[in-house]
Amino acid sequence: MSSKQVLICQYQSCLAQGSAEVLAAFLECSSDAAIVPAECQGQCNLGATVRILPDEIWYCRVKPTDVNAIAQSHLENNQPVDRLLHPRIHPAYVCRSATLRDSAITVENSTIARRQHTNDS
Ligand code: FES
Repeated sequence: MSSKQVLICQYQSCLAQGSAEVLAAFLECSSDAAIVPAECQGQCNLGATVRILPDEIWYCRVKPTDVNAIAQSHLENNQPVDRLLHPRIHPAYVCRSATLRDSAITVENSTIARRQHTNDS
């Protein structure tokens, strides 16, 4: 049996984002990890929150359709699913995402434009 635990937040904000369905999907998958309905994990604005222990890997905005990817990649093969990693907790992983890299470039360009505007005035 796996030593991993999958904590799926079942508190207000995450429930509003479908965490009950995420929990149901984990309970239906074939993983031998312990599936644990959890209290608030303090990451309410990015629910549904899923936390894998003892790895301390945090997933955010998890949907039922993401559960198979987490089960197969992370729980069976110890490979976290980069696209679902919580960006504040795992920023190094998330920077590999092209979408967020593009966002960072946009922010950087915006900052440069503001500096140039300030210097021109
Ligand atoms: S309600 Fe889920 S992390 Fe707080």
